[in-house]
Amino acid sequence: MNLTYYGHSCFLLETAKARLLFDPFLTDNPVASIKAEEVRCDYILVSHGHDDHTGDALRLAKQCDATIVANFEIAEYFSAKGAKTHGMNPGGGYNFPFGRVKLTLAHHTSSMESGLNPIYSGVACGIVVQADGKTVYHAGDTALFMDMQLIGRLGLDAALIPIGDNYTMGPDDALTALEFLKPKVTVPIHYNTWPLIAQDGPAFAARAAKAGYDIRPLKSGEVLAL
Ligand code: NI
Ligand code: MN
Repeated sequence: MNLTYYGHSCFLLETAKARLLFDPFLTDNPVASIKAEEVRCDYILVSHGHDDHTGDALRLAKQCDATIVANFEIAEYFSAKGAKTHGMNPGGGYNFPFGRVKLTLAHHTSSMESGLNPIYSGVACGIVVQADGKTVYHAGDTALFMDMQLIGRLGLDAALIPIGDNYTMGPDDALTALEFLKPKVTVPIHYNTWPLIAQDGPAFAARAAKAGYDIRPLKSGEVLAL
């Protein structure tokens, strides 16, 4: 299966039966490698409510007649706005026609349309997809946490983990996360979108390589075959 990076935390995962878009953020994403109107997907998987993970979710759900898969609160929110949705919660998995999706813990906040009246958006989640014999973990936005060891027990073919610091794990904690997750391949995400989360992807990859991990710092638009 192919994994295409669209910048920030947004990916397209092409399984045999469906095209899965993670954390759609294209229109206001300064490093997006595709325009929202060019995207085709069947499912939209959302890790939490923040705009840099949901910005194009509603538009693409309608444009593509795609189903938004997210925590219960986010699913209800988009359902009320006319999208097809499937609500879940951390620890729960569901067998979709293309494979299994399970939401995991993440340590982060979650809200939408912030400012004075933020909309409660449940808890932030990570997302595990099992399809075509592969297991892929999208960590969403998160701090390092010990329970990543439980996610690692699934046997991860690929992990997408934040390294941007400030809002999420930085490179030091991400290295520890690799010990817990033990992925075959890791793609660093949520960095270099803005100056506040600037990080050196190749430097992180070199440090991780010394510890025995295979890190692929993808450029926006790059495709990784899994
Ligand atoms: Ni966030
Ligand atoms: Mn974020």
